[in-house]
Amino acid sequence: MSEIYERLMRCYDCVRKKTDFTPKIALVLGSGLGEFADGIDIRVTVDYNEIEDFPVSTVLGHKGRFVFGYIGSVPVVIMQGRVHYYEGYSMEDVVLPIRLMKMLGAEVLLLTNAAGGVNYSFECGDFMLINDQICMAPSPLIGENPDELGVRFPDMSEIYSKRLRNIVKSSARSLDIPLREGVYIQLTGPNYESPSEVRMVRILGADAVGMSTACEAIAARHMGMEVVGISCISNLACGVSSKPLSHAEVQETADKAAPKFTALITSSILNIAGIL
Ligand code: HPA
Repeated sequence: MSEIYERLMRCYDCVRKKTDFTPKIALVLGSGLGEFADGIDIRVTVDYNEIEDFPVSTVLGHKGRFVFGYIGSVPVVIMQGRVHYYEGYSMEDVVLPIRLMKMLGAEVLLLTNAAGGVNYSFECGDFMLINDQICMAPSPLIGENPDELGVRFPDMSEIYSKRLRNIVKSSARSLDIPLREGVYIQLTGPNYESPSEVRMVRILGADAVGMSTACEAIAARHMGMEVVGISCISNLACGVSSKPLSHAEVQETADKAAPKFTALITSSILNIAGIL
């Protein structure tokens, strides 16, 4: 067996010793959005540091645990806090939790993040449905390719499922929550971009910029998960606004957006589960 797969199996066994909960949908909560998990019908939580060989995040505001529970009658697993490439982890580490959630039973992955608005028409606090991505960080699939995970050269023509995007759009419409749509670009970070870098990513076709998500979406598609993603535009990217950026601002905007975000995620998950 390959090293990556053996490690995943060790993580899997650790989680399975604590719970036999089988999630249908996996959810990743970005900066400032983590509170959402505290409000669901929680059945069991597993701290990342309880799992042998599991990468643990160092970023402030990221809790670092799996929450297993129900949204309505939908069994979900929520990653409250993720690990980032800029923390010094390998890409294999960064996507390990995504692969693990698939192994635990999740067929759908809902990714969320806080991102900088690159598109001039975006405003702070907007939500953007991700319709495609540009991954400027190294691919998480570089290296050995265990057959158990997926094919060597996976197709990426529809990373973000069209049918799930349509469900999120109609959920937003019925809640009267305005929803933007666009392309997410992942840079490595941890520094925010310079004005010239923001101009560059706009020319490349990006509408929002962040430091996560794209690599996770690739790993999930590799394993055949159906993926959907929503960015909370926590700030206007450098050069779009003349204000210097800070993590505190990112956190604060995401906190403010939390009630609407909770409503949108909850309704989207209920509607998505309806077609699975
Ligand atoms: N740039 C990159 N990542 C981010 C930003 C940004 O402006 N805001 C939140 N995450």
